[in-house]
Amino acid sequence: MNAPNQSGWRPAMGSAETLDSPTASGDRALMLEEPLIFELGRAGTCGVDIDEAELGTSDALAPFLRKAAPALPGLSEPETVRHYTRLSRQNYAIDLGPFPLGSCTMKHNPRLNEKVARLPGFADVHPLAPQQAVRGALETIAQLADWLMALTGMAAVAMSPKAGAHGELCGVLCIKAALQARGDDRRIMLVPESAHGTNPATAAFAGFAIENIPATPEGRVDFAALTARLGPDIAGVMITNPNTCGLFERDMKAIADAVHAAGGYVYCDGANFNAIVGKVRPGDLGIDAMHINLHKTFSTPHGGGGPGSGPVVLSAALAPFAPLPFVTRDTDGAARLIEEEHALEDHPSSFGRMAAFHGQMGMFTRALTYILSHGADGLRQVAEDAVLNANYVLRSLEDVLDAPFAASGPCMHEALFSDAGLAEGFSTLDIAKGLIDEGFHPMTVYFPLVVHGAMLVEPTETESKAGLDRFIASLRSLAERARAGDESLKSAPHFAPRRRLDETLAARKPVLGWRD
Ligand SMILES: Cc1ncc(COP(=O)(O)O)c(C=O)c1O
Repeated sequence: MNAPNQSGWRPAMGSAETLDSPTASGDRALMLEEPLIFELGRAGTCGVDIDEAELGTSDALAPFLRKAAPALPGLSEPETVRHYTRLSRQNYAIDLGPFPLGSCTMKHNPRLNEKVARLPGFADVHPLAPQQAVRGALETIAQLADWLMALTGMAAVAMSPKAGAHGELCGVLCIKAALQARGDDRRIMLVPESAHGTNPATAAFAGFAIENIPATPEGRVDFAALTARLGPDIAGVMITNPNTCGLFERDMKAIADAVHAAGGYVYCDGANFNAIVGKVRPGDLGIDAMHINLHKTFSTPHGGGGPGSGPVVLSAALAPFAPLPFVTRDTDGAARLIEEEHALEDHPSSFGRMAAFHGQMGMFTRALTYILSHGADGLRQVAEDAVLNANYVLRSLEDVLDAPFAASGPCMHEALFSDAGLAEGFSTLDIAKGLIDEGFHPMTVYFPLVVHGAMLVEPTETESKAGLDRFIASLRSLAERARAGDESLKSAPHFAPRRRLDETLAARKPVLGWRD
């Protein structure tokens, strides 16, 4: 345990295990330790001068008067600015290095997108502005919608969902509304083992019961098991394609035909659309609804939990049930926002609203900028390069890391490895923690669940070959150490601000607030 330093807080980096001569401050060169803001603050200090208030209090408000001063940290303005700046420096970000999280598609966010999104006509637009005042913004939404429909070969698109999982809910609610409209009380949603975890959660949230469909030994949906389960109680199927094993579901069209023949609908989780954009149109595969994570395929930033954007493309069968509001084009081509049910004759059956307003304007402008700056050919190359990079990682490491589906052929946009072949007592977690010491954000670990000790690496198309070679060299060295039983790997990370955390305790007994 480290001794508290002069200012009273405990330096993690100055631990005797990692430093021969700990510094007096607890900092290490320009890597600054940072306590909680409450530990930094001093009672009686304030960043601004506030005059004593001389307000009378009405009797009605008297019960609400504070009995004690609020427990705010007392810091000057520069101390506050430094606190948050130091914290931001401890963050790892896509602008610092590769972020090989499989299933997350952490790719470079082009600066051109940012420039366009900051144009005042876009940045200052207000969702309650009258339509005549925001024609350009509506045209932008309509153009993005046109592109999404063209790229997917689908009849309609709901732009308002705010993220992938929100889009899933939108698609599944469309399916529910379509079933209700024909008086069909189907309650079961089939979800293959290789689907993303949000799929069964979404279906359950929408009121469906979930049944699992197993994966084949080669990592794809078991077509025979799926078709055997189809029947009058099956509302539909939710399939992630490309799936979470990084493989394309080759039977997708046959699955869709079988589900339709049995009266169900097909939801496709399109979070991995970046692997097939410009190459395959999901509409041609018989899909009824699919969300697109703009923050993945179309390079808008992953905003620390928001603001995301998850438009949902819909087949002609589900289009009438799309949520309000939505943008449509009048006969003269002008974009118009439809805010109320029955405003359009051919759209009498919307299931309702997913959100108060039309969607995430900042993400729409960034995504459309990305699409227009690439064009259809450029987008196809995005998919090809993403797949090429993933296969480069797969083939470069399969001699030191078990690649369970390598024999199934090339992977799509992500390379999947397992912990098979590591020395007794060594795990995927050791490799992930070792990557932190190597200066890389770890890959996705222990997902997908169908593979033991899974390591899912998604390099994306925005990493250069030189960058990939550095990453591969680090991962190779860690795999070799784990195979050889190098005990030092078990206590990695050694050089990060924090050592290995007790993840079970953190998950079971999280301490989310500061207590004096
Ligand atoms: C395959 C897949 N589906 C759905 C989601 C959920 O998307 P979001 O995080 O935007 O809600 C993700 C997110 O990682 C995903 O990878």
